[in-house]
Amino acid sequence: MSKTLVSPLKFVPLASSALRLWHRGEVMSLGNVPPDRTLLDLLREDLRLTASKEGCAAGDCGACTVVVAEAVDGHLHYHAVNSCIKPAHAIDGMALWTAADLAQPNGTLHPVQQAMVACHGSQCGFCTPGFVMSLFALYQRTVAHGQAVDSHSAHQALSGNLCRCTGYRPIVQAACSLRAEPGQAVDEKAIVAALQKLADTEKTGANYLRPSTLPALLQARSQHPTAQLIAGATDAGLWLTQGLRRLPQIIDLTRVAELRRVVHYPQHIAIGAAVNLQDAFEALAADRPVIMPFGERFAGWPVRQSGTLGGNVANGSPIGDSMPLLIALGAQVVLMAWRKGRAVHRHVPLDRFYTGYRQSLLAADEVLAWVVVPRPAQGEWLGAYKVSKRQEDDISAVCLAVQLHVQDAHVTAARIGAGGVAATPTRALQTEATLIGQPWSEVTLAAAQRAIAQEFSPLSDLRASADYRRQILGQLLRRAWLESTEHNTVRLEALA
Ligand SMILES: Cc1cc2nc3c(=O)[nH]c(=O)nc-3n(C[C@H](O)[C@H](O)[C@H](O)COP(=O)(O)OP(=O)(O)OC[C@H]3O[C@@H](n4cnc5c(N)ncnc54)[C@H](O)[C@@H]3O)c2cc1C
Ligand code: FES
Ligand code: FES
Repeated sequence: MSKTLVSPLKFVPLASSALRLWHRGEVMSLGNVPPDRTLLDLLREDLRLTASKEGCAAGDCGACTVVVAEAVDGHLHYHAVNSCIKPAHAIDGMALWTAADLAQPNGTLHPVQQAMVACHGSQCGFCTPGFVMSLFALYQRTVAHGQAVDSHSAHQALSGNLCRCTGYRPIVQAACSLRAEPGQAVDEKAIVAALQKLADTEKTGANYLRPSTLPALLQARSQHPTAQLIAGATDAGLWLTQGLRRLPQIIDLTRVAELRRVVHYPQHIAIGAAVNLQDAFEALAADRPVIMPFGERFAGWPVRQSGTLGGNVANGSPIGDSMPLLIALGAQVVLMAWRKGRAVHRHVPLDRFYTGYRQSLLAADEVLAWVVVPRPAQGEWLGAYKVSKRQEDDISAVCLAVQLHVQDAHVTAARIGAGGVAATPTRALQTEATLIGQPWSEVTLAAAQRAIAQEFSPLSDLRASADYRRQILGQLLRRAWLESTEHNTVRLEALA
C-alpha cells in the first residue's frame, strides 16, 4: 500500500522521504510525512486510526501507547511506545500494532483484552487502549515464550500508564492472569521477512537522517550543523508537543550499529549512545545490583525503552537521574566528531562535562558516543537514592548517589553525585572532603550532613522547597550511613 499524506493545517509539510511500516499484514509506504510529525498525529489525524488516545501529549499518561517491533537477528523485539512524543519516522522499518489490531477478524478478543474484561480492568475506558498495548508488549515478551507474568514484571510493564477511575489492582490482576491462547500467536517469521526487505531498501531523503554506522553519523553531524540530533526523543518529543517547536531536519542516531552495544572490558564498561535506559541500567546492575531498584524509579517502562543513557547525559537537566549516579561512579563520556576527513574523539570526566544550566563541553559538531563506567573496585559500597512525589513515572526533587570505600572502619575514598540542588548535576566535593580519612562514625556523618547542607543553594520550585532539598540531602547521607554500616538492613523498596 502506498499513500501520499496531506498534512493538516496545523503542520506545514516539510519535505521528507517515505515512511515504511508493517501494519495489519501489509507494508505501508507513506509519502510526505514531515520529519517532526509525531506518530500519534500520523495515526489519528493522517491515517484516521483513532484507537490510540491523546491524554497528556507529554509521555506521562500512556493513553497513546502503541507497540512496535524491530527485527534483530531474525527475531522481533517488542517495545511499548508513547506515540505522542515519538517522531513517526523513528519507527520506519518496524512493525506496528494499535489497540484496534489485536482482536481477530471474527471479533475474538486477544488474551490481553479478554483478561481486562474478566478482571474488570476498565471503567471510562480512556486509558484502556494504552493499558492493553502495554499488556500486549508484555505478553509478546513473556507469555508468548511460555513465561508466566509475576507481580513485579506486571508493575514494571504498566509503570507508564495512568488510570484515573478503575484503580490499578484489577489491571495488575489482568496482567498476572495472562495465559497463551492457541491461534493468537503473531506470525513472526512473515513479519521478520517483510521487515528484512525494508532493511535491504536504502532509505533516502534529506530531512530525517537515520545513519546506520558511526562514521555516517559523525559526517551527518558535521554536514548538517543545524539539524536536531535525537536518540529516543523522550526529551526532544516534548519540544514538539509542549514547546510547539518545529524541527525541520532531524538526525536520529538510534540505528547506528556501533552505538547499540554495551561493551564489557576488564576495568570498565562502555555503553553506546543508542542503548536504551532499561538495557543500560541492567548492564550497570550486573556489576552493582543496587542500581536496578534505582533505575526502575526512572520514568516508566516505555520511556526507559525509548530513552537512552546518552540522551539523559547530553540533555544535561539538573534533575536528570542518571548523572548523579554516573558522577559517583567516576564515569567519563566519549565525545566524537568528524574532522579533516576522519573520526576524532576525546574523553571527558562527567563531573567536568557540564558548564552551566543545560550547557556542556559538547561542541556543535560532536556527538556523545559512549558513556564509560569503571567497574567496581574491591570493597566498594554504593547507595543511589531518588526522592520524588510519585514512586514511578516522576522526575526527581533530589537525587543522591554515594560511592564509598571503608577500610578498618575509616573512609578511604568517597565520591558523591547530587541532582536537583544546583544548575547542573554535580559532585559534592566539600562533603567528600569531610569524609575521607575519617572514621565512618556518627560524628563524621554529622559533619558531612552539615557540609552537604551548606555546599549547595538549591531552588524552591513545584517539586520541593530549597529547605526541604537541603534537609533531604542530609537525610539521604544518613540513610547511606545506616545502610553501609548495616545499622539498617531493611531496603525500603523491599517493603512494597
Ligand atoms: C514521562 C517522562 C518521564 C521522564 N522521567 C525521567 C526521570 O525519571 N528521570 C530523568 O532523568 N529523566 C526523565 N525523563 C526525561 C528523558 O526521558 C531522559 O532525559 C532521557 O534519558 C532522554 O534520552 P533520549 O534518548 O530520549 O534523548 P532525546 O530526547 O532524543 O535527546 C535529548 C537531548 O539530548 C541530545 N542528545 C541525545 N543523544 C545525544 C548524543 N548521543 N550526543 C549528543 N547529544 C545527544 C539531543 O540532541 C537533545 O538535545 C522523562 C521523560 C518523560 C517524557
Ligand atoms: S498522550 Fe499521554 S503519554 Fe502520550
Ligand atoms: S478507566 Fe477511566 S481512566 Fe482508566
